[in-house]
Amino acid sequence: MRGADPSSPNPSPVLPKSLTSQGELVRTLKTEKAVKADIDAAVKLLLKLKADYKQVTGQDYKAGCPPLESTVLEDTGPAAAVDGEDMVDPWNVSTTSAKGVDYDKLIVRFGSSKVDQELVDRIERVSGKKPHRFLRRGIFFSHRDMHQVLDAYEKNKSFYLYTGRGPSSEAMHVGHLIPFIFTKWLQDTFDIPLVIQLTDDEKYLWKDLSLEDCHRYAVENAKDIIACGFDVNKTFIFSDLDYMGASPDFYRNVVKIQKHVTFNQVKGIFGFGDSDCIGKIAFPAIQAAPSFSNSFPQIFKGRKDIQCLIPCAIDQDPYFRMTRDVAPRIGYPKPALLHSTFFPALQGAQTKMSASDANSSIFLTDTPKQIKNKVNKHAFSGGKDTIEEHRKYGGNPDVDVSFMYLTFFLEDDEQLDKIRQDYASGALLTGELKKRLIDTLQPMITAHQERRKQVTEEMVLKFMTPRPLDFNF
Ligand code: TRP
Repeated sequence: MRGADPSSPNPSPVLPKSLTSQGELVRTLKTEKAVKADIDAAVKLLLKLKADYKQVTGQDYKAGCPPLESTVLEDTGPAAAVDGEDMVDPWNVSTTSAKGVDYDKLIVRFGSSKVDQELVDRIERVSGKKPHRFLRRGIFFSHRDMHQVLDAYEKNKSFYLYTGRGPSSEAMHVGHLIPFIFTKWLQDTFDIPLVIQLTDDEKYLWKDLSLEDCHRYAVENAKDIIACGFDVNKTFIFSDLDYMGASPDFYRNVVKIQKHVTFNQVKGIFGFGDSDCIGKIAFPAIQAAPSFSNSFPQIFKGRKDIQCLIPCAIDQDPYFRMTRDVAPRIGYPKPALLHSTFFPALQGAQTKMSASDANSSIFLTDTPKQIKNKVNKHAFSGGKDTIEEHRKYGGNPDVDVSFMYLTFFLEDDEQLDKIRQDYASGALLTGELKKRLIDTLQPMITAHQERRKQVTEEMVLKFMTPRPLDFNF
């Protein structure tokens, strides 16, 4: 997927203006017979502005003819952020930095807001609960409109949660649990309805898989999701392949969204090209539709004004920038968002865990022994080469994958802090750090497997049946 030039000006409706003035400058320089070098420089900038314009709008720039309002997205520019070496879009995440993606830069690029201490404190005040470790540790690091959600909540206006998963295989890894663990906490904390979209249609369109397999993976993945502890009376899980056909209201929203997004826009946001199948081009509307409460009449009694909050990994933001752009134009509230960082691969934070590479991930089906071996063998270490050197100079927790995983899963802040200090000072060796991680992961995964075993086909069916939930709207 093509990325934006980081040095290019922010693509926005302002672009034609700078293009106009640059065009005028070139003309003036030429009529005034300015120095050739000056003219050349001005022409070069003009061409660059035109190229940027085309990338954002998908149209050639015509002087005095601004793009249609709807071809320029409100929030920010293209989804792919090639920022220095970082690359983030819904399908790829990579960076050359061992510390991982620079998330502060991503906030600037995507035009979202930082989850700062003030917001974390406010969530604590409003909910009366200790903030989840993912909030305390900056794992859910970015948001859109969270203050608005809290303002409304304080005035007794409820909201609902929406998250999802693309079921590309039966195997889920611990990284896949991050949004669900956090969503469960949000649901318990605010006592609100939750809808979970399983995009089996998306995986069919993007991968070399049969429809039957994608649907089967959706149901299998639903079991792992249910095993996170969601309340069946407050949660609706749906497969797109099932629900799209069963719910006229959902499909009506899909069509409304499709009418208000142009091919140019999705090209700009997702980088689709001429040889992508039309299913992909139409798909973003299907991921957008659950952001609107009247897509679920059985839960919200046809109301269209219930605010939606979407916890997701930052790579899903392009879908929701599009959604937020469309929302006011079809008379719906914009969904709010909470974005998480990626869960790093065992080999290092340059990329995220991938279900298709067994050695890069800890799977939810791994045995205690497999977990131990994978961590010991594959977890990238920030330790020194020899014990002597390590004791002398200390390790680097910022690039150490075992330490990073502990920040996700070790609940105790003091213990975590002590591990960091001891590792950095050299008091704690790599093998010892890895053991801490193994001791944390093994019981966690075993407990998950136990809970998953308890999930019956009947329970899955109940979660996946469109029905009213325990809320009065
Ligand atoms: N596209 C997502 C994936 O491939 C799945 C998804 C659908 C999703 N709706 C969502 C993720 C809402 C987060 C929030 O995994």
